Amino acid sequence: MAKERVLSGMRPTGKLHLGHVVGALNNWVNLQNEYQCFHFIADWHALTSDYADTSRIRENRREMMVDWLAAGLDPKKSVMFVQSAVPEHAELHLLLSMITPLGWLERVPTYKEQRENITDKDLGNYGFLGYPVLQAADILMYKGDYVPVGEDQVPHVELTREICRRFNSYYGQVFPEPQALLTPVPRLPGLDGRKMSKSYGNDISLSDTPEEISKKIKTMMTDPARKRRNDPGNPEVCPVFEYHKVYSSAETIQTVDRECRVAGIGCIDCKKWMGERLIENLSPLLQRRQEYARRTVEIEDIIADGNRRATAVARQTMGEVREAVKLS
Ligand code: TRP
Ligand code: SF4
Repeated sequence: MAKERVLSGMRPTGKLHLGHVVGALNNWVNLQNEYQCFHFIADWHALTSDYADTSRIRENRREMMVDWLAAGLDPKKSVMFVQSAVPEHAELHLLLSMITPLGWLERVPTYKEQRENITDKDLGNYGFLGYPVLQAADILMYKGDYVPVGEDQVPHVELTREICRRFNSYYGQVFPEPQALLTPVPRLPGLDGRKMSKSYGNDISLSDTPEEISKKIKTMMTDPARKRRNDPGNPEVCPVFEYHKVYSSAETIQTVDRECRVAGIGCIDCKKWMGERLIENLSPLLQRRQEYARRTVEIEDIIADGNRRATAVARQTMGEVREAVKLS
């Protein structure tokens, strides 16, 4: 039986960090054995908000592929490509835009939320409103069965399903309805306890060295109420404990959970134990990353090969689409 298809994309917004690995990439790596996976670098999606300065986009694309490979995505198993290298996405986006009511787009929660909260750039552009239509084109193009995404992206997958049904009802059954694949993944907060993000300056980057990581861990926020060594702490409000839960042994987690509350351990030691495990766990990835970063030609070849394989599928789908819409 043919493997079911998984499809997901990521916007190339700069160097990836630990949050991407724990929250998405580890999951993608696991999926590649069971499914036929398509993963793409959503550079057009990055332009919907970062259209004014495109100077870093090529570099960011390369960095992203290096990070993916270092995380363990395997070009022999998964098709990894660049969205803009497959212009069929733009054609399908155009056709889907004809059948997508404006109201559907205006109601998308991320749209409303970002229009209200992002003030340093003008998001009153057409492309930004159409972001989920482009995403629907990405997904439907490969007839994806599952889309592994975070909670925040579920409305986009829902909208894709609605657009899919509408297309099929106008033009005949072309696309299967995709489903969001919500695998529970741990969430690593940033060093200061907020969401990890490069723009907050609170991230552990995949291009950090182990020394830089240990330095960062020393500056990590702990339970803010625990001011002195003798104050008891509460691990439940401490970002360091969240990291322990991902990287430390069950025994260490238990010890920290118990001893923190009675001031039996200090934060300096607690961070040190966590940091050692984190670095041990991450070292192979960091090393692979450095190696791939030097193999420029090979990276270009991997991208070119992925682009070719994606294009073959996209051409096939667009043939069917043009036929269905009676454009061929
Ligand atoms: N919107 C996704 C994000 O911001 C990126 C993306 C673009 C995507 N196209 C996609 C994800 C298709 C899944 C499927 O993370
Ligand atoms: Fe956090 Fe560990 Fe300090 Fe407790 S002992 S507050 S868990 S760093």
